[in-house]
Amino acid sequence: MKWQDGRRADPKPCREKDEGRFEISSRDGQARLGKLHTKHGILETPCLLPVINPNIRTIEPREMWDKYGIQALITNSYVIWKHEHLKEPALSDGVHELIDYPGVIMTDSGTFQSYVYGDVEVGVEEIVQFQKDIGVDIATMLDVFSRPDMTHSQVEKAVDETIKRASISIKTAGNVMLNGPIQGGLFPELRAKSASGMSALEFTVHPIGGIVPVMEQQMYRDLAKIMLACKSNLSPDRPVHMFGCGHPMLFPMLIAMGADLFDSAAYVLFARDGRMLTPWGTERISDIEEWPIIVPAVANITPSEVRAMKKQERTVLLSKFNLEVTLQEMSRCRQAIRDGTIWRLAERRSHEHPALREAFLWLVTNPARSSMDPLILDEISASKEFGEELGKWEEHWDWLVNAQFTPRNGGEAWGGTDTHHRPHVEMARRRLFARWRSRKPGDVIVFHGASAPWRERVGGLIDRLFNSDYEMFVQTPLGLVPWGLEDLNPWAHIEGPDWLWKRKPNYAWIQRELARLGVYDRKIISIDISDTEELHNRVFEKLGMEPQERDSETRKQYQIVDKLCVLCNVDISDAIELCKDSTFIMSRTDRIRNMINSDGVHLFSPRLGEGGISLTVPGARKLHSLRKAPVPDGFNSADLRLHAGEGPAWVVVDNDAEPFVKEGRNVMHGFVTGCDSWIRPGETVLIVNSAGGLLAIGRSQSTSKELQTFTKGIAIKVRDGCP
Ligand code: GUN
Repeated sequence: MKWQDGRRADPKPCREKDEGRFEISSRDGQARLGKLHTKHGILETPCLLPVINPNIRTIEPREMWDKYGIQALITNSYVIWKHEHLKEPALSDGVHELIDYPGVIMTDSGTFQSYVYGDVEVGVEEIVQFQKDIGVDIATMLDVFSRPDMTHSQVEKAVDETIKRASISIKTAGNVMLNGPIQGGLFPELRAKSASGMSALEFTVHPIGGIVPVMEQQMYRDLAKIMLACKSNLSPDRPVHMFGCGHPMLFPMLIAMGADLFDSAAYVLFARDGRMLTPWGTERISDIEEWPIIVPAVANITPSEVRAMKKQERTVLLSKFNLEVTLQEMSRCRQAIRDGTIWRLAERRSHEHPALREAFLWLVTNPARSSMDPLILDEISASKEFGEELGKWEEHWDWLVNAQFTPRNGGEAWGGTDTHHRPHVEMARRRLFARWRSRKPGDVIVFHGASAPWRERVGGLIDRLFNSDYEMFVQTPLGLVPWGLEDLNPWAHIEGPDWLWKRKPNYAWIQRELARLGVYDRKIISIDISDTEELHNRVFEKLGMEPQERDSETRKQYQIVDKLCVLCNVDISDAIELCKDSTFIMSRTDRIRNMINSDGVHLFSPRLGEGGISLTVPGARKLHSLRKAPVPDGFNSADLRLHAGEGPAWVVVDNDAEPFVKEGRNVMHGFVTGCDSWIRPGETVLIVNSAGGLLAIGRSQSTSKELQTFTKGIAIKVRDGCP
């Protein structure tokens, strides 16, 4: 971004062939940092499009561009069309000239006016043609508004009529990008119908419509349901816009569920009656002596001085305050996506308003209920409604969980009970439960009482127990983790108070965890490792066995086998065979760096950061040769349990991409012709050609649906080509 003398240079148009394309540059589950390519610059998402009323410009659009760096705004084509003094110059000079704004301009169609005032007199084709004629970047078709108080049949009519109007609107828009709004009121099945119907047509963006009254009445739980029902049925390669949503308090939760664009007149509307937006709700200028946040607009003025201002002047100042606070929360969300903490931000913000907390709790408990541990449900009342909805939302929760990038770097900051419900924690646990296999037939030992790194505390003891029949686990606040995976994220990286690790073992809970790991009917021996004084002797005494010699080689093989099974989906007997008689290169801190097999070939390297594992080219060739399933020829997604042990997911690329990928270049969207149904973001994958020949090793950045639909951006980050 370039500023000179307080002005910002005009945007550069995107490449012609990219116009209308949307790509993802970074993701955190369903939250994404995206780029929408337009004639008036590349719009970086998620972002807020301030609403400009062309008749009353409280903050000048030029100031939005120059001072605030706002890349896009939204105005109303119906208002322009209706007023001759706006219509004429818009038609002759274009909308950018009319409102003096060089960035991306989206226009709405008059649907909202019809909701507020009754019918509008403009035609379906006419309003799209008008938007095209005035040169907007993103136009909106005339959809039919669905209110939350409408009956099922009224809403269905609105959905059907909107879909009916879509084709002619798309035809009229020609090469102008078009918004295809999703309606459906409060009925999830109608939201799903609208989303899949509209998604099948050539729209560029999908706004979620009919949500203004839902937000006004603070029906945030319904908003969460609407979002899930719409998003999981929309094609992921299209940005999703939240019509009329500009309260910063809602951004984190909606972005975590995949919202890309927001628009709002709230910054002005609230300012007009002396209200200030903050990420924790709304405050009134009449009630405060101190600013809730210091932003440039109010840096040199006190609330009482603002109260004394004339109404118009006060409105402008409070509008700026609201806009600055809103932009600040949006940047916070964008950074959180980069940091992988968007869910945590949504979690924190959920405490700001009772209705938002209710929505969040519904989201993390009701859809996920059947996969959760009853012991961690204590915060939620098992109300009638929860019971009635049981099972209905599971696939939507899966849609959120399956998009999580794991394993990931960085600490898992403890946030109370909510920590258990984080979708990426759930993804890590599902992967563990689906793929880990017990190899020891004996009793179970559960170490507890201390935080990671456990190897530093009891590594020596573990080595002395590895030749026994004991299956060993560590009790962590996020569940049991097998010893072989003791350095894996998130279990090994939980940041929280000491008491978290001091919890006494709960045998019912341990048994449930073991059952999920496929370990049944074993005696459980818990060992407190908070005090390491004389620990070895105490343990051998408790187990009734003689102290053993250290056998770190067996333990190392175990660790690699566990990682291969859980993280690369390798069959347990194949993994054991691959690791037989291997040797290990160790780090200075005595962690495995490389595994060399019995023929002296370096096959695998554990990643020390998050506890993952990387394949070398010979390692990838070995896993490739073990494959029994046919070459995938489509884009399905299936439960991990159904394909456990079938090897790392394969990604098939077309002939054009083959030479580049073989050289180690990334796989770009648009060149993938199929993938295995067990692919997930963050997983190690093998990239193959249509005959199944190995081309490269990579890490998927995408879900299978994303591989199927996106045409721009990185699909798979390639680690090594296999020439
Ligand atoms: N603005 C706020 N809600 C809506 C909606 O549902 N449709 C359109 N076109 N504009 C809106």
